[in-house]
Amino acid sequence: MTIQNNFSLKKYNTFGIEAKARQFVAVHSTAELKTVLQENQHEKKFILGGGSNMLLTQNIDALVIHVDLKGKKILKEDEDFVWVEGQAGENWHEFVLWTIAQDFGGLENMSLIPGNVGTTPVQNIGAYGTEIKDTFVSCEAMQIATQEIKVFNKEACRFGYRESIFKQEAKDQYIITSVVFKLTKRNHKINISYGDISKELEKQHVSIPSLKDVSNAVIAIRQSKLPDPKELGNSGSFFKNPVISKTHFEAVQQQFPEIKFFEVSPTEIKVPAGWLIEQAGYKGFRKGDAGVHKNQALVLVNYGNATGQEILALSKEVQKAVFDKYTIAIEAEVNVI
Ligand code: EPU
Repeated sequence: MTIQNNFSLKKYNTFGIEAKARQFVAVHSTAELKTVLQENQHEKKFILGGGSNMLLTQNIDALVIHVDLKGKKILKEDEDFVWVEGQAGENWHEFVLWTIAQDFGGLENMSLIPGNVGTTPVQNIGAYGTEIKDTFVSCEAMQIATQEIKVFNKEACRFGYRESIFKQEAKDQYIITSVVFKLTKRNHKINISYGDISKELEKQHVSIPSLKDVSNAVIAIRQSKLPDPKELGNSGSFFKNPVISKTHFEAVQQQFPEIKFFEVSPTEIKVPAGWLIEQAGYKGFRKGDAGVHKNQALVLVNYGNATGQEILALSKEVQKAVFDKYTIAIEAEVNVI
């Protein structure tokens, strides 16, 4: 475990932005993590997981700790369920494939989401009608100040849409080290209610889908719409889908009857930001190396050498265009650093 100075983070963020860490260290065990925290108590610290949900707009004047804890295992099982644990640094998609290979159900709709196991609870990742909170049991996290390990159960995490305690009160105070999920061994709850999945399965002539079929369908949809960060830098959805009051929505709908929406409660409506951005004329828009993806307008991309500032400026331009046309504010989902 060596601390390196003036370290390039280009390979450590899926946007592929060039930015430097004043100091950088990768930790491979909770013991190493504890030592680093103890020995650098007075240093400013920045915790880095898979780097898949952040936009670096400047160098990081801190000790960057890259959480690289590996391992996955079955903790216990009964006839119906299995409890699996992944260490924080495990690649999320590989973890999902490992569960599917054993016919454990619950994570299949979240195949191919970039990032690591340890960061999934932070923003309650989700896709195609499923969220992490549906199968999440608990996670262990080290308190940065005391180096004590604390267990957070589902309730303690206070999950919401792309939200958790780790983005609120507990922000910057804990480092998640492992996560436990409760998955099905039989009577899988196959969820293909999200339109795109059933269409994809039909296309593949699958009528009674297995977990693997659902996962493959999700992979095919994601590959057709979402850019692969290895080929084109991006951070998945850059914006959240805005949730607005029904009154506000009805006023907008009067002017734009074709607007797409989902009712989330009797008083609240969610509007797909991708649709708003596309209608505002920004789908496929490019300025220098910063762009809005051509197949999914919610995703901003780096064509090569965009700076974080350029991507940020583009995101602001998109926000303004959407607001000017629809009076709806869209918020960034990624962490802007
Ligand atoms: N749409 C457009 N134009 C676009 C993109 C979308 O008109 O450019 C419309 C679609 O036609 C559809 C609606 O918007 O009617 C929703 O689109 P989609 O199913 O692609 O999902 P999304 O709401 O844009 C969310 C998540 C994604 C997740 C998908 C599928 C957020 C912020 N994003 O996107 O998550 O994969 O649903 O469940 O909730 C991520 O968080 O990084 C991510 C990729």
